[in-house]
Amino acid sequence: MKILAVETSCDDTGIAILEIKGNKNPSFNVLSNIVSSQIEIHKQYGGVYPMMAKREHQKNLVPTLIQSLKQAGLLKIKNKSKKQNFKNLEKILEREPELLKKIIPFFKKYTLKGTSEKPDINYIAVTNGPGLEPCLWVGINFVKALSYFWNIPIIEVNHIKAHIFVNELKENGKIGGLEKKDFPVLALVVSGGHTQLVLMTELGKYQILGETRDDAAGECFDKCAKILGLSYPGGPIIAKLAEGIKTPSTGSGQAKIILPRPMISTKDYDFSFSGLKTAVLYADRKVKNKNIKYKKQMAVEVQQAIIDVLIKKTIKAAKDFKVKTIILGGGVTANKELRAQFKAKIEKENLNVNLLIPPANLSTDNGLMVAVAGYFRAKQKKFTKWQDLKAESNLRI
Ligand code: KG4
Ligand code: ZN
Repeated sequence: MKILAVETSCDDTGIAILEIKGNKNPSFNVLSNIVSSQIEIHKQYGGVYPMMAKREHQKNLVPTLIQSLKQAGLLKIKNKSKKQNFKNLEKILEREPELLKKIIPFFKKYTLKGTSEKPDINYIAVTNGPGLEPCLWVGINFVKALSYFWNIPIIEVNHIKAHIFVNELKENGKIGGLEKKDFPVLALVVSGGHTQLVLMTELGKYQILGETRDDAAGECFDKCAKILGLSYPGGPIIAKLAEGIKTPSTGSGQAKIILPRPMISTKDYDFSFSGLKTAVLYADRKVKNKNIKYKKQMAVEVQQAIIDVLIKKTIKAAKDFKVKTIILGGGVTANKELRAQFKAKIEKENLNVNLLIPPANLSTDNGLMVAVAGYFRAKQKKFTKWQDLKAESNLRI
């Protein structure tokens, strides 16, 4: 089985092709995973503007698809172009004119390996939410066009589940295969748009234990970076600046700035990060000489404040619900310190849990995570007709 997957919920255009081999003991074979980043565009404005991101997706989707299909060896140049009717396609893509301009020459020139009755791709998976609505719609309309034109069924995928399920993909291509003994599972999903603690008592059964009441953790990284005059996205830049610096809470006390850890001791599993951002803003206003030393100290303290809260709340939930597995997912989990400190904490507390973290390039948004989550939906035969597919920007897990 081969799944083509499309991710456009925020500012990354991701297209991946995943092959699943074998029925009894299936294994994964990643044929391609191409991410076209819009960072250079959004950098100039210090953040993501949805309509601008939508325009970029329209430009990037077809080139990314071509690259992804070529790498997977699934693209074929048509022998001779039969007369084709693009009327319905024009209707499907009436809100994506830039995309329509690119997709018609694509369909004229290329086709998929296999036959028109049985193309070499079995399913097309796509993120239908949560995310930025205009961005979700471009990916969805694109997938509708592909599904209609190639006659391939669609699998809709929840973005949060994709961040969780990518952990099922092992380095050796094996499927992680969470078993009964691995449950309950606790997932911490931390990205630019979400901060959620999700309990899974069994595969497919989710309960949101807590979530952010205001800004997401990644959003906090991004906003604090902006206050400090740093570029977008703030998370990796703050992480880089913080490298090698110690904070008062981690020991040597080189840093003089101490920021709050909002809601760290509350009994619930909710988060709040907007107060942290405000604290950075007020502290920053008092500083006259905003030299690199100051920025590094602020960076390490922002990073540590976020890490402290995420770890404390996750470990509390893990203990309260006696979980056997902790899964981390979402862009913020690309953070090396967060990963290292999570591992250290679990060891120190002697918790008998298995910690799963994706490789950094699969923590941030990509098409492969959508393909993996799509595979689990395909197994349940949950398909969607292109006519029925729609974006759900506030989709819950
Ligand atoms: O999951 P993701 O790629 O997109 C959303 O679904 O939002 O997450 C993007 C977020 C951004 O806020 C970015 O600053 C943050 O992940 N991020 C990081 C790191 N890499 C990306 N935050 C902290 N440390 C990093 N190394
Ligand atoms: Zn994400």
